[in-house]
Amino acid sequence: MMLDKKFGTAGNKVVVEEFLEGPEVSVLSFTDGKTVVPMITSCDHKRAFDNDEGLNTGGMGTFAPAQFYGEKTAKEVMEKIMLPTIAAMNAEGRPFKGVLYFGLMKTKNGMKVIEYNSRFGDPETQVVLPMLETDLMDVFEAVTDERLSEIEVKWKKGACVCVVLASGGYPLDYEKGKEITIGELDGDIVLCHAGTKMKDGKLVTAGGRVMGVCARGETLEDARQKVYKNVEKISFEGMFYRKDIGIKYRNEKRE
Ligand code: GLY
Repeated sequence: MMLDKKFGTAGNKVVVEEFLEGPEVSVLSFTDGKTVVPMITSCDHKRAFDNDEGLNTGGMGTFAPAQFYGEKTAKEVMEKIMLPTIAAMNAEGRPFKGVLYFGLMKTKNGMKVIEYNSRFGDPETQVVLPMLETDLMDVFEAVTDERLSEIEVKWKKGACVCVVLASGGYPLDYEKGKEITIGELDGDIVLCHAGTKMKDGKLVTAGGRVMGVCARGETLEDARQKVYKNVEKISFEGMFYRKDIGIKYRNEKRE
């Protein structure tokens, strides 16, 4: 890596970090620079195939909420990670308002940060926003006006699952321009287009991750069944998707 300069000059310096093991959770959060309001938690599936096999992708599906993330964990994350992060940015003269993405891992030594992003997550947002009860615009206005502590951000009960439909070969080489056929979907299914376009009046594939099919249910299992029932009504040549979204971590203790 370093001798052959595989990453150019970016590979000249290496940071050695603690190796972390445990379930991963994404906690997207609203912040106005003073208050942090975590959104409902979600779990991404980065590997291409079931049982977390295959290559790393941009995300093959998500579910929300992460059942293992209970009140004790939420309190630990707020006190040890979220509020200190906001305070540190303020102390550095870089106050942040917007959506802060905490990529976290539950290790045997407590909750640890894997990554931060100053944006919504993909495909986490596809399962988080359908669960939002409060009007998103009201939240955005509270963020910009620094009134986040004054509003209550409410979430719907139940769960949401998103399954990503990908082009054959993704994340390596794949073909584009395959016609997508979509049957009669349940009325409340949310289809998030990612790699699609219209060509000669037809919807065709235009990317590796083509679309996310999202369904809400009273329980995670209800949402899972509903999403897969609807996924079966969509097809294009080479289409593949993971069949195990929403199963991960189901035996993990809630704390
Ligand atoms: N799902 C990971 C990300 O949005 O970075």
